[in-house]
Amino acid sequence: MCYAPAVLTAAHPPPASNVIELRGLPSHVGIIMDGNGRWAQQRGLDRSEGHRAGSAAVRRVVRAARRLGLRALTVYAFSEQNWARPELEVGALMDLLKEFLLAERSEILHNGIRLQAIGNLGRLPAFVRAVLDPLRNESANNEAMTLTLALSYGGREEIALAARELADDVKKGRISADQITTESLRARMPSLAVGDPDLVIRTGGEQRISNFLLYGLAYAELAFSEKLWPDFDAPDLYAAIGSYQQRERRFGKTGAQVRAPTQVTP
Ligand code: IPE
Ligand code: IPE
Ligand code: MG
Repeated sequence: MCYAPAVLTAAHPPPASNVIELRGLPSHVGIIMDGNGRWAQQRGLDRSEGHRAGSAAVRRVVRAARRLGLRALTVYAFSEQNWARPELEVGALMDLLKEFLLAERSEILHNGIRLQAIGNLGRLPAFVRAVLDPLRNESANNEAMTLTLALSYGGREEIALAARELADDVKKGRISADQITTESLRARMPSLAVGDPDLVIRTGGEQRISNFLLYGLAYAELAFSEKLWPDFDAPDLYAAIGSYQQRERRFGKTGAQVRAPTQVTP
């Protein structure tokens, strides 16, 4: 299937959920996809059924993001801390991950999506790597949108790894300690290869970060949705982006400064 170009209109007054302003879109959106377990429990189902429904939501939201023309979408699918869940649940999640990758392969490739993965990928089972790695390679030159799966991912772990790498550079004499800067740390973080996240959405009603993209979150706008992840759909993504578009990002400056027209130097 190919994506039709988005037919979307200007949004005044604030966007209805199925209408979105195409100017001022966030470039990189991160999503903490939470609430699968509760969705299943509310229906008397096994938690794994919630994850299955969550997988369908990923498909819908990736399509919507691609149609909108977002440059990068990073989805938090499995945290380093999620390994502590019951073995059966972890196993079901890994099976679903493999199924998702197999089912989405052709759509990813046909729609110019570059699939990446961040996190401690060495912990993933071989049967997941066997489908993940070829798809990362096959899609590596696609340019329409980068879809990053955060798998066995932890923001603290990513920072610690970057620090370890820089420490090793110092030890080997490649750089001096005073060359360690915010930028050299950033350069060691795969999660930020597509730029800092502009907007991070968390579903499921909790208002916390749970170890997602910690370093890159410094100036991200946050949006929290009460919806459980399996119920999240394109209009909810548009609503979060609409809210983002209403905000003024100041990056430490005053409002007047960021609203001032660019000064031309003679
Ligand atoms: C998010 O849903 C998916 C993963 C963390 C893998 P949860 O499984 O955390 O769902 P709740 O929070 O228990 O409802
Ligand atoms: C965050 O959800 C991780 C993912 C969505 C993959 P959790 O359900 O693991 O977060 P906590 O435990 O509620 O903070
Ligand atoms: Mg949860």
